[in-house]
Amino acid sequence: MKIRTGTLKQLKQDGQKFACLTSYDNQTAQIFDQAGIAVLLVGDSASNAVLGNRDTVPITLDEMIPFGRAVASGAKNALVVLDLPFGSYEISTEQALETGFRAMKETGCAAVKLEGDKTAQIAALVEAGIPVMGHVGFTPQSVHALSGYKVQGRDKEGASKILDECLAIQQAGAFAVVLEMVPASLASEITRALEIPTIGIGAGNGCDGQILVWTDFAGLDTRSPSFSKKYLNLREDLSKAAASYVAEVKSS
Ligand code: KIV
Repeated sequence: MKIRTGTLKQLKQDGQKFACLTSYDNQTAQIFDQAGIAVLLVGDSASNAVLGNRDTVPITLDEMIPFGRAVASGAKNALVVLDLPFGSYEISTEQALETGFRAMKETGCAAVKLEGDKTAQIAALVEAGIPVMGHVGFTPQSVHALSGYKVQGRDKEGASKILDECLAIQQAGAFAVVLEMVPASLASEITRALEIPTIGIGAGNGCDGQILVWTDFAGLDTRSPSFSKKYLNLREDLSKAAASYVAEVKSS
């Protein structure tokens, strides 16, 4: 079944949960799509997971676009969402629109994601026909402003700020919102309060959907967050395979 933004809303209404993964290339997009992953996020986590940067801050739109094109062409059914990188949408609604149009026209992705309560930008993109996914709680593009990788919304004030941001993002027209590194109780409360689906990462099991960075999920990255469950040991398997290959070639 082809997944569209409306499908996710319907799944929420029907009480059905859905799984999402990041993807940055054509092969993993095909594999995850065929396995029934509902949303493939071309995350700006490509900055660290693929390009070897320390965090998501340095990656540019020009660098994101080929990843988006590769994933969009590999996915038949999954909804493919392109992350708008840091600095590509914050300045104004005009900047967000220019970035959003490039993201859609040059990749074939069906939606974009942006971080924080940028409601003017979300509303302008939605008005222009570009579906938007929000992202609140720990927002990796603000890692320096947030003083590192920390759970957000632990106290009453912080929790109510995140709930208000989610309501504003929904009001602005977003079709879903990622909740990253917030307490499970807060994620469940937000999920009950919103009509649009929530997608959790390090936010407990009460969200409508879950997302993992694929290189963490597959055990490829050595710097995975502790909340991220490993479903295989790809790094170990690849190392063994490469070592066997080296040995076989050396022994003719
Ligand atoms: O870029 C990314 O991988 C993300 C996920 C953490 C949701 O934004």
